[in-house]
Amino acid sequence: MTVPIDDYRGSGLVFPEDFTFGSATAAYQVEGGAAEQGRTPSIWDTFSHTPGLVWNGDTGDVACDHFHRVEQDLDLMAELGLQAYRFSIAWPRIVPVPGGGANGAGVDFYSRLVDGLLERDIRPVATLYHWDLPQYLEDAGGWASRATVDAFAEYAAIMGAALGDRVQTWTTLNEPWCSAYLGYGQGGHAPGRHEPASALAAVHHLNLAHGHALQALRAASTGDPDYSVTLNFHVLRGQGDGAAEAVRRIDALANRAFTGPLLRGEYPADLLADTASVSDWGFVQDGDLQTIHQPIDVLGVNYYSTATVRLWDGVSPQQRNDGHKGAEGGTAWPGSDRIVEFAPQPGPHTAMGWNIAPDGLEELLVSLSEQFPGQALMVTENGAAFDDEVAPDGSVRDAERTDYLRRHFTAAHRALARGVDLRGYFVWSLLDNFEWGYGYAKRFGIVRVDFDTLERTVKDSGRWYQRLMRTRTVDA
Ligand code: FCB
Repeated sequence: MTVPIDDYRGSGLVFPEDFTFGSATAAYQVEGGAAEQGRTPSIWDTFSHTPGLVWNGDTGDVACDHFHRVEQDLDLMAELGLQAYRFSIAWPRIVPVPGGGANGAGVDFYSRLVDGLLERDIRPVATLYHWDLPQYLEDAGGWASRATVDAFAEYAAIMGAALGDRVQTWTTLNEPWCSAYLGYGQGGHAPGRHEPASALAAVHHLNLAHGHALQALRAASTGDPDYSVTLNFHVLRGQGDGAAEAVRRIDALANRAFTGPLLRGEYPADLLADTASVSDWGFVQDGDLQTIHQPIDVLGVNYYSTATVRLWDGVSPQQRNDGHKGAEGGTAWPGSDRIVEFAPQPGPHTAMGWNIAPDGLEELLVSLSEQFPGQALMVTENGAAFDDEVAPDGSVRDAERTDYLRRHFTAAHRALARGVDLRGYFVWSLLDNFEWGYGYAKRFGIVRVDFDTLERTVKDSGRWYQRLMRTRTVDA
């Protein structure tokens, strides 16, 4: 059943005192400084520098230049009143060469960032992996290779030792679905491979990397941080004859391939059966599931829109729901490609073409808390790209983004009222930034970045969020 979208324009809703309001970015999307202070290329440097793979030939070489403007950006966060900042650490800044140990300059950058946050009373929420795998590891097999798991554990131990006295929430991985299926199957994300069997190996190695990284972080951290992982859940609606089967298959690949091992200690039997023609999952070794299945303090939830799936009728073209434009020839759905297809979503849509469906967020949060009783949740990303216009006075009156956020905060509030243990909410994104395959063409920021001058301007949505954070109350 589709809930009318107007139902999600609440106002006067008050969030509890201990609810954390934050905003998020990721290293490759904002930092720039790609070749500075010892950093070596990641798979996204290689990918973005390959002609034809990113819109307009954009790269993260400079991005928002956050690497050099970190003090200014910290002041901006303080001015807005952020209570928490979710950032990611660039692995190739920390371990730039194979077996080379920690790069002091790279570690120091994040150490200063964390200190700067704490000085401003902003909680540091650090993600170890938001997609920038060191290129030398990809050259040795990438996430399709088990050796990458060991390298990730070493990197996690370095960061745990360096920041484990101050980081308040550790997130191991951001959206492993994208890393595995878009990176190794469909090819629209770095490293751009079209190998369905490798995509499944990557799923497992990412899950295993999470487990090993948690152990390494726990061993090294001297503070009392929360531990987490962030997943991008697919909120699915089925269509036509066989709707339930279509939903089951995509739910297995997109959602349960991660929640199964991470939160239950097993891969779903139907996932293994559906993908049997692609892989025998022989990469899962004895003991792996115990390593993966460890308690986490909070489960990170990234949510943007819903998806409608149906059984493929053999005629209509396969459509992707993820909005990330990919090269032809791969598959994001090993074993279910040409069995299930994605139907067009009714509007309204954002500039990404993603449908606006705040009811999906409420439904997802309630469903997760029913599936995993007692598991605290955090919305680690939600936000929207629109084609912003700069008014003659320099302001950005992004009413659509504010409206999107208001509706989704309303949805989160409804979930809270239904008993969901939702701890906080991070708006994606603090800054307009490098939107992966779309380069700088899609703007998600509550702060505008002029990519010629790198000047920052708080948008109207940023001012709206500032008021929400200050008053805890959703205004009209
Ligand atoms: C998510 C990513 C994030 C950003 C948003 C729009 O999939 O985690 O980096 O690109 O989408």
